[in-house]
Parts: sequence; C-alpha cells; structure tokens
Amino acid sequence: MAQATAALKEVPGSPAKWPMGDLGRVREIGMIDYLMEMWREHGDVFHMNLGPNKFYFAAHPDDLRKALLNNDKKWIRGKGYERLKTALGESLLTSDGEVWHKRRKLMQPAFTPNAVAQYSRTINRTVAEISARWERLAEKGDPVYIDDEMKRLAMAVIGRIMMNLNLEDEAMRAAADFARVLDFASKPIGMPLFIPTPENQQYKRAYKDLRAFMEELIRNREGSGKEHDDMLNTLIHLKNDEGEGLTMDAIVDELLTLFFAGHETTALALAWSWYVLEKNPEVEDKLYDEVTPVIGDGHAPTLDELHRMPYTLQFFEEVMRLYPPIHIFSRDTVEDVELSGYHVPAGSAVIISPYVTHRHTDFWEDPEEIRPERFEPERVKERHRYAYLPFSQGGHICIGNNLALLEGHIALAMLARKFYLRLVPDFEVKMFPYSTLRFEHGLKMTIHKR
Ligand code: HEM
Repeated sequence: MAQATAALKEVPGSPAKWPMGDLGRVREIGMIDYLMEMWREHGDVFHMNLGPNKFYFAAHPDDLRKALLNNDKKWIRGKGYERLKTALGESLLTSDGEVWHKRRKLMQPAFTPNAVAQYSRTINRTVAEISARWERLAEKGDPVYIDDEMKRLAMAVIGRIMMNLNLEDEAMRAAADFARVLDFASKPIGMPLFIPTPENQQYKRAYKDLRAFMEELIRNREGSGKEHDDMLNTLIHLKNDEGEGLTMDAIVDELLTLFFAGHETTALALAWSWYVLEKNPEVEDKLYDEVTPVIGDGHAPTLDELHRMPYTLQFFEEVMRLYPPIHIFSRDTVEDVELSGYHVPAGSAVIISPYVTHRHTDFWEDPEEIRPERFEPERVKERHRYAYLPFSQGGHICIGNNLALLEGHIALAMLARKFYLRLVPDFEVKMFPYSTLRFEHGLKMTIHKR
C-alpha cells in the first residue's frame, strides 16, 4: 500500500506550526468557520495543525464513502472515541471490528422502522404533555428557552422508550446522575479521570450510583418475569443465532449509550427547527397548511396521518442539513489511504464535518437556502448518498435514525399545528460548536397560540 500511495499528491494545509498551530485562529472565529475557511482555501482534502496535533480533513462524499463504508480494515473510530469509552464502555457507539459487528447485528432488529413505530404512542403522549405546558406558557407570554424545552421533551421520550422512566421528573435521583454522566461524556476534552478534580470526583460518584440503579432495575425485571413494552425489555431478551444474549454490563453500557446518543441530538435538531421556521415564513406557512387538514383538531397523528404530512418530515431533514446536531466526527486510518488523489498516512486522524459537506456546492444548489423539497424521494435518489450525513452513513450509520425522524415528525406536526414561536427582539442566536451543535446563549423565544 505504501508503494501504491507514494505517487500520490501531498495533502495541502495550514503552514501554522507547533506549539499553537491554528488554535489561535480557531479561538478567533470558531471551529465551524475555521473549517469552512480552510475548505474554501484548500479544497476537499487538507491538513490542520491544532496545538501539538496534526489532523486531516475530508469533505468530498466519495472520500467519506471510503472512510465510512464497512471498511474496518483500513479505518477505525480511533482516538476521538477514547473519552466516550470511559463513560459508555465497549458499546455500539465506541467499538469497532468483531465486537461492534456482533452487537450491531444483535440490536439492529429493535430499530427498524416497524420496530420503532410501536413507540409512536409514547412520543404522542409526551408531545401532548409539552403542548399542554406550552398552552400555559403562551398565556403567560414570557420568553422561554426553546432549546431547554426540546431537551425536556427528548429526555422524557427517551426515558419512557428505554426504561419506562420519567426522567423529566427532576426530583428523581437517577435523573441528576444521568445528567452528570451524559455531560461528562459529551465534553470533547477534559482532565484524565485519575486526576481527582471536583468534577471528576462528582462524575465517578454519579457513574457508580447510576450503574447500581440500572443494575437493580434490570435484576428486578429479570426476577419479575413480567414483560414491559420498552427497549430495556427488548435488550434483556435479545439472543443471537447461537442463543447468546447481552451480559448485565453490556445492557447497562448500551442503555447509557442510547440515552447519550439519542436525547441531545434529537433535542437540538428540533430546537434548530423552531429557529429556522421563524426565519422562513413561507416555509412556516407551507408546513402549517400541510398539517392543518390532517390534524386540524390538534390530535396526535396516526402513522397513516404522518405519511400524509411528508413536507413536515422533509423540513426536519433539511434543518439537519443546515444544522447537523453532530457537526463533526472522526475516523483514524489503519493503513496508508488515498483521498481525492492525496496520500494520507496510516495512523492519521481524519475529521469529517457534516456541516461542511452539507454545504458542498457540487451537491447542493444555494446551500445556505432552506428548501425542504430537496428531500422529496426522487431528488434524494438522484443525490450522492454521502453528501447528506447527519446520521453518518455506511456500517456505523446511526441506529436510532428512524426513531429520531419519527420523533421529529410527530413533535413538529403536533406543536406547529397549535403554536408559532417568535424570537425575542435583539436576542442573538449563535451556534456553539461543542461535541454537538448547541446554542451559545440558548434559544429564547415566545410561544403564541394559532
Ligand atoms: C437527530 C438525532 C440524531 C442524530 C443527528 C444522530 C447522529 C448520529 C451520528 C452522526 C452517528 C455516527 C457516529 C459515529 O459513527 O461516530 C450516530 C450513531 C449512533 N446513534 Fe445516533 N443520532 C441521533 C439520534 C439517535 C437516537 C434517537 C439513538 C437511539 C435511541 C441513537 C443512537 C445511536 C447509536 C447507538 C449510534 C452508534 C451506531 C453504530 O456505530 O453502530 N442516535 N448517530
């Protein structure tokens, strides 16, 4: 391989050198604008020096296909996932190779569109509760942080779907432990755990208590012999062809992983949706005109009714193009590889940014414009699959994508039927690219009844 790649071009990139490299520029304009700037200057493959570390970057869908399509001999998740592993163990989101293959095969059937459709009633019920809460908030007229509202919704949905728990109930001890553990896992960098900072100590305590809580719940379930209609029930009963299931540790790791991967991402996609709707009145009107004849009295939609509201789902997909909740992730190369005719050596970390690729002008016309019609089925078929990757693509494509789309579809249809939201005048909405694409100052809006 080294010989085959020797004739390839050298990757262009920033000349900035150790010890800071381009960190100053990143601090100045933020990671997202920095990546966009580098991409405009150097093209689809470049390298960056950030502090003492060298990273590569790939934007072209053909290259992303190479990195993401079941290619675990040449590409692994690598160093970018070490911190996550501390909190989530060897789970679907952190593992590779044989461990991951076996786990994915075992868990996949629980996430097909048909399998997740059974959770629509739980989603409906939870959205109806938020809707009742919004009626009260609309009457009061005070500004509300909509990003927090969507977190409240997503946390309640996932708690119920996973374990029939009401995690939105803040009095519940486990909710606080969950919040601390998930917060630790989402930090892109932090002090190694063996250093006894107050934060690390609190995390370790919460982690221990949370695992004990979940183990007890699982033991009680196993002991009771009763069936429940949640994901934990499914995880307890999963068996592969050889009759092997998940161990207690693996069930806890996977539950934590599903919480971690599934709640903030969905909440952010929904929060950005309200922002985009308010900024685009024509799209807002079109969405309202679609949902009104179907669920005019504000009832929770059936699956058949959801199919009759395709624009609402296309809008949600388009929002995730402009504001992908996972705006950045990475893979490491195991061997030397070729990307767009450039040579990337073995052992490199390659950054992938859905945010940048979703603005690639070879694949998206007027990429900054919001056009839900881009997601009409015929147009999706014509497009390069790897040009759109809010859920990643290939073997590791998000296992929860059907669930997230279902939740987004229901929540937007039900809430937009009854309410419209307006930004508080002079309130600055700014992206905060953390490990997820958050809001720097939150998303402060007022809620109005239609
Ligand atoms: C809008 C919501 C969501 C977004 C944007 C999203 C995004 C992603 C992305 C980009 C990945 C690939 C990560 C990587 O390979 O490094 C991923 C993987 C994953 N997601 Fe999601 N996700 C969402 C919702 C969910 C939900 C609701 C669940 C589960 C309840 C979930 C569970 C997972 C798991 C377990 C993986 C690892 C899959 C594997 O490697 O086999 N996600 N997600």
